[in-house]
Amino acid sequence: MRAAGSVGGMCGDSRIINEARRPTVSGKDDAVSLPRFFCAILRADMSVPRHFALIPAAGVGSRLGAATPKQYLELAGKPMLLHAIDAFLRTPQVQEVFVVVAPDDPYIDAAIGKGDDPRLRILRCGGDSRRESVLNGLNAICEQTADVDWVLVHDAARPGLTPDLIQSLMSTLQEDPVGGLLALPVVDTLKRDDGNGRACETVPRSGLWSAQTPQMFRYGLLKSALAHADGVTDEAAAIESMGMQPRLVEGAHRNFKVTLPQDIELAEFFLKNYP
Ligand code: C5P
Repeated sequence: MRAAGSVGGMCGDSRIINEARRPTVSGKDDAVSLPRFFCAILRADMSVPRHFALIPAAGVGSRLGAATPKQYLELAGKPMLLHAIDAFLRTPQVQEVFVVVAPDDPYIDAAIGKGDDPRLRILRCGGDSRRESVLNGLNAICEQTADVDWVLVHDAARPGLTPDLIQSLMSTLQEDPVGGLLALPVVDTLKRDDGNGRACETVPRSGLWSAQTPQMFRYGLLKSALAHADGVTDEAAAIESMGMQPRLVEGAHRNFKVTLPQDIELAEFFLKNYP
């Protein structure tokens, strides 16, 4: 794994430090010559955590009842998955976008077409659950990531994501010691079902939020949290199981998860009217 700040292997090399004593362009034997100057920039640059997007897209979406997995259904002119991919590709701070699909996925190549943005990478390592797909994806990218880099995990079934929402999450969490997620405060009164379609309890909604994605955590922390948290349905739950408290960052209604057939129309409404 690449250690952040460790291009030092190159810049910390004594040969290069010696080169730094050569005269500078000005002809003076300044303490800070050009090679040393560039090394300093490189080193500073590599110690800044980068942002990677990881989209688990290996589910089948059975509640939608469609013949093809829901992430490939056409929505406002393109496959649902492409809306989320494009939101990340339109965000300059995002270094690379990894999409995790099932090993035998027959749809992805046609869905992304030529996919000429070099930042887009397909990982054919989806698992039996969302958690497994994310964990497999994290393991697959270990060579190009450092433990301190940020990973933004986003559901393929949330096509309403925008670069503005991604920016808001990234800027709020930039200095956060834990990380966090987009979420919305619950506004409805909540009822518990008795199992027979009757309300048996009113659950206080105060302090409750509805979790969305992206969920943004440091690569190293997220990988070890997911490895030890069997049965969780999102990344934040895995982090919570380690005793940490992810920050809640206000999301948006348009970033809802397409789950039921009637959700398609609402998603298209947002995508067509507020692209
Ligand atoms: O099924 P659900 O809508 O909760 O899935 C959330 C996300 O997790 C979707 O993007 C889905 O494709 C992904 N997933 C996955 N691997 C699975 C199950 C779900 O990547 N085995």
